[in-house]
Amino acid sequence: MTNAQAVQALFQPFSIGKLSLSNRTVMAPMTRQKSPNGVPGPDVAAYYRRRAEHGVGLIVTEGTVINHADSSNQEGVPFFYGEEALRGWANVLNEVHRAGGKIVPQIWHMGARGNVNEYDEEEIANIVREFAKAAAEAKRLGFDGIELHGAHGYLIDQFFWAKTNQRKDRYGGDLIARTTFAAEVVQACRDAVGPDFPIILRISQWKGIDYSARLVETAEELKQFLEPLANAGVDIFHCSTRRFWEPEFDGSELNFAGWVKKLTGKPTITVGSVGLDGDVSTFFTKGNGSGIASLDGLLPKLANGEFDLVAVGRALLADPAWVDKIREGRLEELIPFTPQSLQTLY
Ligand SMILES: Cc1cc2nc3c(=O)[nH]c(=O)nc-3n(C[C@H](O)[C@H](O)[C@H](O)COP(=O)(O)O)c2cc1C
Repeated sequence: MTNAQAVQALFQPFSIGKLSLSNRTVMAPMTRQKSPNGVPGPDVAAYYRRRAEHGVGLIVTEGTVINHADSSNQEGVPFFYGEEALRGWANVLNEVHRAGGKIVPQIWHMGARGNVNEYDEEEIANIVREFAKAAAEAKRLGFDGIELHGAHGYLIDQFFWAKTNQRKDRYGGDLIARTTFAAEVVQACRDAVGPDFPIILRISQWKGIDYSARLVETAEELKQFLEPLANAGVDIFHCSTRRFWEPEFDGSELNFAGWVKKLTGKPTITVGSVGLDGDVSTFFTKGNGSGIASLDGLLPKLANGEFDLVAVGRALLADPAWVDKIREGRLEELIPFTPQSLQTLY
């Protein structure tokens, strides 16, 4: 197969429920910290619109936080509550839709400042309610769905991970008990948005504080972990890894997204070093940039249906026209990711 043929796998339409995408590319959520006082301004809207204009199938916004005292500890991270921030988001949405794109906000809570073991049940119920309020606002504004950030060691993942969750109540205990909080969040969001509004859940084995961490060691454990989440109303699992080509478990070539799709029957998004020759942890730990890499290893997996959608992070941060260039075979024009890419919101 020539490259031009292989690349067609990325440009097949996709739909689930009311979400119809013109192709399989997804912009991965990337925190930019360029929303002063939590309000995304016209520059943020233009940044996302530019990716929509250049053919990204689905934009997942940077993490945007719910209304809770602990939800954010970083200046410039956008809020998903309050009149001004929501007006900013309505403008982002409008710009992306006018450019023919689709967009979901990534709803985020960065995590307990002390630890999740200190929240009492009333506090947890309050946080669950705030997730649901954000979901309802996303629907009211006209977003194409939501993504819940359940990955990388932030709040939802702090409940998943045995190392951070030592609760003795129903939110802690074995792997299944540790999904209780996430399942309640998903269910509350589902109740708030109704059956047809897409809910994506992002999950990962790795944590920002421990790249080698694992929530599950076997496919059987993964199945147990996913079942309560799928039952609570997740439509699509966004399976975050640093390197998409790595088999998740011995004895099979399937990657994390491949396994999650196989075990749940739900569509999945893969992510991790697509189009780049170095993974994101080299950036987070050493500030490294990454050069351009071929998509040859990715495309057959997508064509074979191992996963449904492909999220692209740093390559799209650096190059708003990444999708158009891939489709048109303009590979020599691709812009590599450098730490300087983060300085502007282009
Ligand atoms: C600057 C930066 C900010 C990020 N912020 C988020 C975020 O807000 N939410 C999230 O789930 N992942 C975040 N990520 C992880 C990306 O979504 C993605 O999973 C990761 O970069 C791997 O994809 P890549 O190799 O294509 O860059 C961030 C990554 C980068 C580089």
